[in-house]
Amino acid sequence: MENVAFFDTKPYDREHFDRLKDRYGISVRYYYDRLTPDTAALASGCRAAVAFVNDNIDREVIASLCENGVEAVALRCAGFNNVDLDAAAERLRVFRVPAYSPSSVAEHAAALLLTLVRKTHRAYNRTRDHNFSLKGLTGIDLYGKTVGLIGTGRVGLSFAAICNGLGMDVIASDPVQSWGRGIEYVDLSELFRRADVISLHCPLTQSTFHLIDRPALRAMKDGVYIINTSRGALIDSEALLEAIKNGKLGGAGLDVYEEESDVFFEDISGSVIRDDVLDMLLCQPNVLITSHQAFLTNEALEAIAKTTLQNLREYFDTGECANEIGAQGMKITI
Ligand code: NAI
Repeated sequence: MENVAFFDTKPYDREHFDRLKDRYGISVRYYYDRLTPDTAALASGCRAAVAFVNDNIDREVIASLCENGVEAVALRCAGFNNVDLDAAAERLRVFRVPAYSPSSVAEHAAALLLTLVRKTHRAYNRTRDHNFSLKGLTGIDLYGKTVGLIGTGRVGLSFAAICNGLGMDVIASDPVQSWGRGIEYVDLSELFRRADVISLHCPLTQSTFHLIDRPALRAMKDGVYIINTSRGALIDSEALLEAIKNGKLGGAGLDVYEEESDVFFEDISGSVIRDDVLDMLLCQPNVLITSHQAFLTNEALEAIAKTTLQNLREYFDTGECANEIGAQGMKITI
């Protein structure tokens, strides 16, 4: 049995890891704390640490993990923008779960979009208060509208299929064009000009940081809906808030937010929110924010647990892991 230290544990993660860990011969020490320079030493005596999207695996954390004998970090997520890969190079191996359930994320993007355009979030609150008025609840049909996808990897393609099913025209921008049925590839400026809905499905890299900024928002159609289930920093949140306040946008559905690590995944309902931009976004009737939950289905959690444990077992047995970052030549330091 190899020991691993599991950071930022939530009950829903633990349930799936507990069910599978013995099968992979792995003993898991669960910690509720995030992986930080202060907590990294908790991994002492473990060959690997298991981390999630908001564990900031920076130079200091990497140094501390290495000092404590940790050889590898297994991310239980797809994105790895939270790892300083330059600092990790040749010191710490980093694995990820490249795909677990693209449909879980795509279906959540669809849920955000359908809720926004039909205002069901507002109707739900109204009828609970015995207010059965329809005033202000007029929506739009998605049928016949154009959706612009930025990124057509696993999640983007799954979302494209849903949009096709809704009778939408699907256009997309991606440096790697895929075989996706019913997708017209266009450049980003044309996508901004034509799309009624824009949904982000690309990774966060140096070149996609604040991809949606003031000029991009200005180039979009009036009344456009923006959906982001990818990474918060793809959008300049202040620019987005401005565009919501000046009526440029029809609405925004956000499962991720650039400063999410201070608030998402935690119950802070008894506290004030110190982030004014987030606070203002939350107040708007046409902004719907979920707390990075697009991955949160039983199917996805099971697949995450299975691949993370498989990654670790493969590394412990062979010293290699097919899902190692860097082995695939990816260098991203944001
Ligand atoms: P993927 O790696 O299969 O696809 C990403 C696509 O983005 C690729 O086709 C790539 O060529 C494209 N791309 C890269 N740079 C681009 C650019 N500048 N413009 C347009 N396209 C670009 O990734 P997958 O599995 O589809 O996931 C997409 C994103 O979803 C991930 O990067 C991750 O950040 C996010 N995600 C969010 C989750 C959540 O719970 N909210 C859960 C899982 C993933």
